[in-house]
Parts: sequence; C-alpha cells; structure tokens
Amino acid sequence: MKLTQQQIEEFERVGFLFFPSLFSQPEIDVLNAEVPRLYAQHRPENVRELGSEAVRTNFAAHLYSYPFAKLARHPRMVEPVMQIYGDELYMHQFKINGKMAFDGDVWQWHQDYGTWKNDDLMPEPRAMNVAIFLDDVNEFNGPLMFIPGSHKLGVLDAQHDTSTTSYPLWTINHDTIEKLVERGGIAAPKGPAGSMILFHSCLVHASSSNLSPWNRVAVYLSLCAVDNHIRRFKRPEYIAHRDFAPLQCLPDDCLLKDYDVPLPWKDGTPVEALSGMAA
Ligand code: SIN
Ligand code: MN
Repeated sequence: MKLTQQQIEEFERVGFLFFPSLFSQPEIDVLNAEVPRLYAQHRPENVRELGSEAVRTNFAAHLYSYPFAKLARHPRMVEPVMQIYGDELYMHQFKINGKMAFDGDVWQWHQDYGTWKNDDLMPEPRAMNVAIFLDDVNEFNGPLMFIPGSHKLGVLDAQHDTSTTSYPLWTINHDTIEKLVERGGIAAPKGPAGSMILFHSCLVHASSSNLSPWNRVAVYLSLCAVDNHIRRFKRPEYIAHRDFAPLQCLPDDCLLKDYDVPLPWKDGTPVEALSGMAA
C-alpha cells in the first residue's frame, strides 16, 4: 500500500494517519478468533490489569500465533512505514492490547520513543507504531488520544511511573500536557474494527479506562528501521526484540489464505528471552 504525497504531508504535520475500515470483516474475524486462546494462556507475554485477570497487553504473538505472524508481515501495515523511512524494517515490539470491557485501565500520557530511548537505547525516533482495531472503537471504550503536532517537539521530559498501572511507563507530567493541548488540541480517531492508525513514535498519546461494556482490542506493530536497532537489551526480548532481520511482506491476501511463516516460540518462550541482560 502506497501513501499519497498528501498523506505524507498530513503525517508530517499532525504525526498520525487514520485509515477507517482498511481491513475487511472476514480478515478481522480471523484475528479475533485467535485472541481468546492467546489471552487464556498463562505465559509471561500476557500482562494482566492490576487486581484483575483481564489481559492489559499480550506481547510477541507474531512469534507463536499463525494469524498474527501473518499480520506482522502484512503489506497494508508494513509498506507505508517502509515508504516513509525509505528503509527496511524489523519488529521492535508487537502487542495486542485488551482494554477489556469494564476492566481496561488507562495508558497515561507518554511518547513511545521516550521508553525506547531510555530503556532500549534506540538511537533515533525512526520507529513507527501501526495500530489496527479488532473491535469497533467509540467514545466510550477508551479510544487512543493524540496531541496533534506534538511529535515535532522531540523527546520530552518524562518520569518512570511504575505504580499507576500494571505496566511501567515513562510518562509526561500534567503541566506539560496542558500546554501541549492548548496549542494542538486532542484527536481521538474512532471507527469500525479493521481501521488502522499509523503514528509517529514521538507523538504524545494516552487513553482512558474502559468503563463501557465493549472490549477495545487493538494490535500494535512497532516497526523500526533496521540500522536504528536498539543498542541495549535491558528489557526482556518478548517486550523489546533483538532479531533485527528485515521483515519480508506477504501478499495482500495473507490473512485469508495459507502462507508459510516461522513460529519460533510456538512451544514456549526461550529462557533467554524472559529477562533483560546487564548493560
Ligand atoms: C500504548 O500507548 O502503547 C497503548 C495505548 C492504548 O492501547 O490505549
Ligand atoms: Mn504508547
């Protein structure tokens, strides 16, 4: 999938692009059929919400789930990022966020590159998030909120918050958010399952809790230019990958047809991928 010049300019201006209903319902059905099985597993890749069995995020399913291994190589998700960077990409992070009905907790205001720089020593913000909705996203089930234009400010000061939720995050303080929102406002792309968002790794974003009766499952590919690979392996490999081999895209119909994909962790996570390494 190729971006138009107008889309590239829009991305540079606001820091994200929204593609409503980019994937068909049959394609989304294939992915959704797999999520309950993944979330039911007791493996370290499933991070649960504080005080609840609900899965907050599932990591690295592209290494042990056939449909998600194909999604990780989907040209509609990968090619636009290759086009923007003019480079080959590897998978820095792959996650399926639950934001489950009633239990889905907040994601505080943050920039992803803040974490990738601080924790993983990724040299430049040449890594992109591409999200795909597996459920309809509306104003009630915790849509992602972006501050348009905030990606242009580079890496902002952040504090490591290890207590608000079950997942540690480098978060931005409320005074800064107030100023940023004054100039940029807030955008929250909403739409049917199958919609896709591509967003800059310095774009400030957050989402509130999900008190609605509707799940808001979404998959996030974090695609990094190969030569911009992380330099420190402090976090476990299932969170920050260490395989920098370029991704090879599958054909556009890959979710609905059979293709060979590697599933190296299908029998379990290798022990060396479970912990970080000393710097
Ligand atoms: C994230 O920022 O990584 C996730 C936010 C969300 O899923 O709402
Ligand atoms: Mn994020």
